[in-house]
Amino acid sequence: MSDSPTRPEAMRVVRLVRVQDETAGRKSLYFEDGLCSLAEPGQYVMIWTPKAKEVPMSLSTINRNGPSSVTVRPVGETTEALCSLVEGDRVGIRGPFGNGFSVIGDSPLLVAGGTGAAPLATLAEKMVSEGLKPAFILGAGHSEQLVFRDRLGELLGDDLLIATDDGSCGFKGLASQLTVELMEEREFDSIHTCGPELMMATIFRDADERGIPFQASLERYMKCAVGLCGNCAIGPYRVCKDGPVLGSEQLRNVSDEFGKAKMDPSGRVIRVDH
Ligand SMILES: Cc1cc2nc3c(=O)[nH]c(=O)nc-3n(C[C@H](O)[C@H](O)[C@H](O)COP(=O)(O)OP(=O)(O)OC[C@H]3O[C@@H](n4cnc5c(N)ncnc54)[C@H](O)[C@@H]3O)c2cc1C
Ligand code: FES
Repeated sequence: MSDSPTRPEAMRVVRLVRVQDETAGRKSLYFEDGLCSLAEPGQYVMIWTPKAKEVPMSLSTINRNGPSSVTVRPVGETTEALCSLVEGDRVGIRGPFGNGFSVIGDSPLLVAGGTGAAPLATLAEKMVSEGLKPAFILGAGHSEQLVFRDRLGELLGDDLLIATDDGSCGFKGLASQLTVELMEEREFDSIHTCGPELMMATIFRDADERGIPFQASLERYMKCAVGLCGNCAIGPYRVCKDGPVLGSEQLRNVSDEFGKAKMDPSGRVIRVDH
């Protein structure tokens, strides 16, 4: 456990107590940290390894009495460096930051695409521990890319629904298409999403038409994580501090950017393409 952390902004150096292979090259890095074990589902940490830069990662395990984890998908220099770490290596951690998801009503639907399953798995665990029975749509391109399928299956049983683009498991098609089908069959009090922004924006349109409260965990380029640098701005919000989870009203306020535009690391506005 890192030395009695009291401020999330302070970097702690933690040792990896376990590194676990997940699907499609992803790795879960487990570490002990007092503040992370008190985090809320949807909160994230800034994680740093000397070989690369500091990047935001959602907590994929929140354990009041044991190690926390992040689950890393190797997409570039830093995430590849993180995925090359082994048990006993050390990383720097700041956080947990951000607001996390809130639980609304008795009948929630969670929709995850790819590594978006990381924060939603912790949310599903919290909901079940509070006596709720969430439905969960887990989407991926192919059956071998489904993240936390066993963990979620054990937790949720038949309430876990799978969607794969190529039909190799479950519903053949996009998680957003399965979400529409499910919304027509059942009533939901809230929808919570994390994954590709185009998926979340599509589901938001359909949920908002039906008046269902909606939450999306957004990814924007982050540097400071404490609301100072402005790199993560979307409309009037700083995703690092006001988010990463934005609700229906906030998403309506940024309808010209959500699913459409974001800033690159140098501040240029680019198209959201996934
Ligand atoms: C709140 C939040 C939670 C996240 N949770 C996870 C997670 O649980 N697991 C996971 O694998 N990834 C997660 N990410 C995304 C992860 O931070 C980026 O994939 C990572 O920063 C890429 O760094 P890189 O050097 O490996 O790749 P780069 O070469 O820098 O970039 C590769 C791609 O990642 C995008 N990217 C780069 N830096 C950032 C950044 N700081 N913030 C957002 N996007 C970036 C780039 O636009 C590019 O498309 C999260 C991002 C945010 C904002
Ligand atoms: S990352 Fe600096 S303001 Fe959000």
